[in-house]
Amino acid sequence: MIDFKNEVVKIISGLDEKLDEKEIMSLIEVPPSYEMGDYAFPCFKLAKIFRKAPNLIAEEISNKIQENSYFEKIENAGPYVNFFIDRAVLAETVLEEIKDEKERYGSSNIGKGKTVIVEYSSPNIAKPFHIGHIRTTIIGHALYRIYSFLGYDTVAINHLGDYGTQFGKLIVAYKKWGDRSVIEKDPINELLKLYIKFHEEVEKEPSLDNEARKWFKKLEDGDNEATELWKWMREISLEEFNKVYDMLGIEFDSFTGESFYSDKMSKVVEELQNKGLLVKSEGADIVDLEPYNMPPALIRKSDGSTLYITRDIAAAIYRKEHYDFYKNIYVVGSEQKLHFDQWRKIIDLMGYDWAEDCIHVTFGMVRLEEGTMSTRKGRVVFLEDVFKKAIEKTKDIIKERNPKLENKEEVAKQVGIGAIVFQELFNSRIKDYVFSWDKTLSFEGETGPYVQYAHARANSLLKKGEFSVEDRIDYSLLNKEEEIDIIRLLYDFPKTIINSSEKNEPSFITRHITEIAKNFNRFYHNCPILNEEEDLRKARLHLVYATKLVLNTGLLLLGIEAPDKM
Ligand code: ARG
Repeated sequence: MIDFKNEVVKIISGLDEKLDEKEIMSLIEVPPSYEMGDYAFPCFKLAKIFRKAPNLIAEEISNKIQENSYFEKIENAGPYVNFFIDRAVLAETVLEEIKDEKERYGSSNIGKGKTVIVEYSSPNIAKPFHIGHIRTTIIGHALYRIYSFLGYDTVAINHLGDYGTQFGKLIVAYKKWGDRSVIEKDPINELLKLYIKFHEEVEKEPSLDNEARKWFKKLEDGDNEATELWKWMREISLEEFNKVYDMLGIEFDSFTGESFYSDKMSKVVEELQNKGLLVKSEGADIVDLEPYNMPPALIRKSDGSTLYITRDIAAAIYRKEHYDFYKNIYVVGSEQKLHFDQWRKIIDLMGYDWAEDCIHVTFGMVRLEEGTMSTRKGRVVFLEDVFKKAIEKTKDIIKERNPKLENKEEVAKQVGIGAIVFQELFNSRIKDYVFSWDKTLSFEGETGPYVQYAHARANSLLKKGEFSVEDRIDYSLLNKEEEIDIIRLLYDFPKTIINSSEKNEPSFITRHITEIAKNFNRFYHNCPILNEEEDLRKARLHLVYATKLVLNTGLLLLGIEAPDKM
């Protein structure tokens, strides 16, 4: 596809040998409105080189430039030279490219040969998968798809919280108050009840804590009973988590959770020891991080058991050895920032220069609007319930809007789940946000159903207009503002995907396709399509076709399906 910005660079750098391509590229701006051109080249910086006023330089540059087939107008305005892309050339470039690439439009091979690990979701066994986990799951999955689309070798890891002192507590609670058959009927809920009961009882009977610690130690030492119970709890919990992953169409390449590293721990502790990083403190081993303005990191307790951070150090080293990653991404809430800062510093202190390739992708909190969800015991909202409710509510909406729709169940699932995913990915991830059903499921405004509906509308237009990709198109007919605005957005789509990967920010894509949907609706209302004379009808249908493809790709990158009818 023609890179128009690069063409601007070529034109300007061709004028004088003092003009350096890289520098020009960095100077080019996108004017605040298209009336001022698609690109503007400011001449302030050149004033020094040429010892002339910027206005004069701009004038001279625009006078010197010959006719150019990519730009319909190149003119100076004060200290700027403004470039106006030829609309027919733009339309042809973009729409032909989309026609050729189809679902692959916007993909790339910039990631070829580079491995990106995206670790996300990572719920804790025997604790509910709750609304707080929704963000890591959805953001992580989107990043995984985005990196894959850009040609990276991606690895999706679920770092299950399947180890640690809470298992000591659970084992104690289970042995005292648990009933296997009851638990197996509703594992996560029942295990959670036990966990809560343990915390209630320990208030009255502090020695329970010691017992729990002993059981975890037994687990670490490979005791049969402890291991058997732990395995069972892990398995029944995982079955529950998988229900949610299935709903979202999520798969992981690896479920190497915390327990996976249990036999790799002594080596890490030894390595820390040998590198002189461990300090004894009240019988425990810590890494002193005071010089870096952080509290000390507890690596090994006085009873010999290891901690969350120890397992994370082991995991990072394992991943480097096993995958030789280019980037190792952790999608985890910002409340764990200190943990990841300490952890990265320790890896750095161990002398691993790849510490800087380990990235903590943080995100803010979700708050539920009052009365959004009735909560089960323990004041947590279960993710599975949220999705089920979204599907139910969507079914009602669809019944009302489109009673004749055939596969209502299927569409309600795509739209209901899609609505939540979209809402999650709409704002920049670092922002806290308030979840509201009305806003999420609305067919108007900046929502998933709104974008999905634009896609379905495009699809139905193509059907009615008997669109064919083979049609020869006169692209110069697509010259209305409404049309050009969509074409520009389609042109920018590939860049948006790259930007979103560079900032690990799926919301760039969400916003971009929302803009496309808005502009598409404006086009739909202002520009007749099916009743136009043949050539214009074909050209417009072609634009509809390109729009539909890009909306679909954008939604898929976010992890959302786009029904053809809704
Ligand atoms: N299981 C943890 C939680 O639910 C998140 C794990 C994050 N990943 C990691 N490598 N520490 O809070």
